[in-house]
Amino acid sequence: MDFFETIKKRRTIRNYEWKKIPFSSIKKIILAGGMAPSAMNKQPWRIVVIDDPKVKESIRKIYENARKELNYYEQDTSFITNGTLILVCSESHDKAMEYSCAMAAENMLLAATALGLGSGVSIAIFQSEKGEKAMRKLLKIPEAYCPMLLLTVGAEKKGEIKHKPKEVKLTIHKNKFGRNG
Ligand SMILES: Cc1cc2nc3c(=O)[nH]c(=O)nc-3n(C[C@H](O)[C@H](O)[C@H](O)COP(=O)(O)O)c2cc1C
Repeated sequence: MDFFETIKKRRTIRNYEWKKIPFSSIKKIILAGGMAPSAMNKQPWRIVVIDDPKVKESIRKIYENARKELNYYEQDTSFITNGTLILVCSESHDKAMEYSCAMAAENMLLAATALGLGSGVSIAIFQSEKGEKAMRKLLKIPEAYCPMLLLTVGAEKKGEIKHKPKEVKLTIHKNKFGRNG
């Protein structure tokens, strides 16, 4: 798939078929993440792949509780249990490392799109102190590491949701920030 076509095609997909994604595809996606730029080339990402149905069910509950606590809109959360989860953790709480992890995550989303898979990212769990704590306990994440982005990857249930073309909002200033810039 052409690069710009992939960029355009990537949308957050939250309706997956109940179908296991081969680990070879997950590996390709993660490797694409590893190609991302990182501050001082530290490659500070640590990845946890979660495909155990019981663990995914626990994560779904943690996610739902976090969304409730944050007063987010009600959502069908089956994408958490139907998809394969890729948790991106940063090796430290340093901003430079966290930004690097976000870059890796976007590469992974694009790789999933290029492979014809649906994907999405969610951080609601980590916006909640309780959510983060519960994830640390469940997945035995050491204190020094920072769980940041939860990616879901799955086979999209085709024809179920019509994605509206994305209205891209961009404000570009030239040479200085401002109306006449
Ligand atoms: C940093 C970040 C956090 C997000 N967190 C969530 C989340 O917790 N739950 C969710 O369903 N979607 C989450 N999303 C997905 C956004 O809702 C989605 O990207 C946005 O609506 C734009 O749609 P698109 O990805 O199809 O272009 C998140 C996206 C980003 C970039």
